[in-house]
Amino acid sequence: MGKINKIAVMTSGGDSPGMNAAIRSVVRTCAFYDKECIGVYRGYQGMIEGDFTTLTARNINNIINKGGTILKSARSDEFRTSDGRKKAFQQLKDNNIDGLVVIGGDGSFTGGVVFNKEYNFPVIGIPGTIDNDIFGTSHTIGYDTALNTAVDAIDKIRDTASSHNRLFFVEVMGRDAGFIALNAGVGAGAEEILIPEENLGLDRLLESLVKSRKSGKSSSIVVVAEGDKSGKNVFELAEYVEENMPEYDVRVSVLGHMQRGGSPSCFDRVLASRLGVKAVEMIIENKTNLMIGLKNNTVITTDLEEAITGGHEINKELLRVSDIMST
Ligand code: F6P
Repeated sequence: MGKINKIAVMTSGGDSPGMNAAIRSVVRTCAFYDKECIGVYRGYQGMIEGDFTTLTARNINNIINKGGTILKSARSDEFRTSDGRKKAFQQLKDNNIDGLVVIGGDGSFTGGVVFNKEYNFPVIGIPGTIDNDIFGTSHTIGYDTALNTAVDAIDKIRDTASSHNRLFFVEVMGRDAGFIALNAGVGAGAEEILIPEENLGLDRLLESLVKSRKSGKSSSIVVVAEGDKSGKNVFELAEYVEENMPEYDVRVSVLGHMQRGGSPSCFDRVLASRLGVKAVEMIIENKTNLMIGLKNNTVITTDLEEAITGGHEINKELLRVSDIMST
């Protein structure tokens, strides 16, 4: 690999709060090291179409506090084809781009790994997803904000649940991971938390709700991860409980995409700023196929492929805390 003069940055996959802060960090770090920075609109699809823009330290002013992504995001089917990747490579070559920073989740990193293998093109990943399901980092950008959004929403639901003595099932996002559910559930004081990593079974849910009632609770919140493996979706779960415990007045709330929006938390802004600096520095040092992450409050790098395949483990201690707190 030769000298790096021009670096492209894109956001890809589901957006997450703090992606703009990461873009800003990449752009400002490029400016700091006197490198050109190109923004790619709409992720890999924009790369295929050559939908590029020049980014300077000044035209990314006032975005650190903004949700969403100024570069837009997309999931590209065309990039999954070798023909699509060929077009994308040609666009990068035509624009004299020497390296690529991908801000996204595992799907986006998979695209980056394949592209690097095919074209030996330098790719560095920054984990940006609310799901927190990436190996090699304790936090992905957007996760902290999404947690706070979920907790805020559940707090509000608790107000009305308590006024009406109701049981609420609240579904949160997270794809196949239960990080948002577990942490927001503990943070919002949920009576039960259902996550894909730990299928406790429906009997256990009923038992717990009976126990709750007996202990004098008149309203309850059950947080359900969207990827929960109980075999029932959140509406079916609510029906199941209503049939078995008619004494409960049950309601369902699906928080959905509101969890992906909003101004990023301070934690996510700082995280994004730190990861962006390291990403550009790695490309300048001719490193490739790495993901920049955070472990024990230290910025570290992980092989990009490992970041996708390494798996993610839920904190069992939190499950225990949740059990004790619902007493
Ligand atoms: O990966 C982020 C995420 O918000 C997941 O939590 C969710 O399962 C998925 O994206 C929703 O995707 P879409 O925006 O395409 O509906």
